[in-house]
Amino acid sequence: MLSQTVTEQIVYLNGLYLPMCESQISTQDRGFLFGDGVYEVIPVYERTVFSFDEHLARLKNSLKATSIPNPLTDAEWLNLLNTLVAKHSWDNQFIYLQVTRGIQMQRDHMPADCLTPTLYAYSNPLKAVSDDIIKNGIKAITLDDIRWLNCDIKAITLLPNVMLKLACKHRNADDAILIAPNGNITEGTASNVFIVKNNTLLTPPNSSAILPGITRLLINRIAKAHGITVLEQNLTLDDLTSADEIWLASSTKEALPITQLNDLPVGSGKPGALWQLMRQHYQTYKHDFVAQYLAQQVQQQQQQQ
Ligand code: PDD
Repeated sequence: MLSQTVTEQIVYLNGLYLPMCESQISTQDRGFLFGDGVYEVIPVYERTVFSFDEHLARLKNSLKATSIPNPLTDAEWLNLLNTLVAKHSWDNQFIYLQVTRGIQMQRDHMPADCLTPTLYAYSNPLKAVSDDIIKNGIKAITLDDIRWLNCDIKAITLLPNVMLKLACKHRNADDAILIAPNGNITEGTASNVFIVKNNTLLTPPNSSAILPGITRLLINRIAKAHGITVLEQNLTLDDLTSADEIWLASSTKEALPITQLNDLPVGSGKPGALWQLMRQHYQTYKHDFVAQYLAQQVQQQQQQQ
């Protein structure tokens, strides 16, 4: 891996690629003033954009739900992501992209007609999960889910998530599992939740209470392919406290084992056997995905010659 510092990051802003320190947006951007926008976080392994189709589909849903026009075609989105990847030396990256409703000179909650969305994207080095976490897992607490009723939209308006993260810090925890007013577990502050009970994987069903995570989708897919039973059903605090294993899942962390919940050990207090197995399967899935993509590229080049 070539070295490249984060200060040399190139960002994409409204059609231009430029150094991060030179990128500027208007103070009147509705993303800045109202948190009026949506985003995606997309991992890149071995310089290959991972699960592009799934991330694009979710982005389109978020744009549609918020009535923000989609500024690019599918091919333009892919080209943007591949160009950003190519501009950075890290083999493993994650791309953050956000689309806000655009600039509006007079303050008004009501968006003006015909605004031009602001499109911003940049890449970061994707760090591997630490050996300490692989060996010992992470500490989590449960907190009330104080967010809104449209958590299936990947909105940039993340103040509740930030406040929940701060609450974790104050209680010396790495993350939190959120509990809705009806008693159902929803998700983590930036991840989906799985539990293992008697070798069965359980996760809350997709609904407006959670983000339809891509990692969640892939874990479900991988589990089913390997004969691991996955049930999508409502879970409560009782399910958490009696779980053999608890995982958090997200694009930047993959699956992380929670080994302490509310200061009590989860299962044996060490990362569980099913998590170890899923970790291996997930690495293989990523590897196969990259190999398949590269093979397709070679095939396409040969056809063009
Ligand atoms: N967050 N739930 C929430 C609330 C999230 O913010 C995320 C991801 C997930 C997992 O989704 P996925 O598997 O598609 O990453 C679930 C990203 C990583 C973030 O905000 O940085």
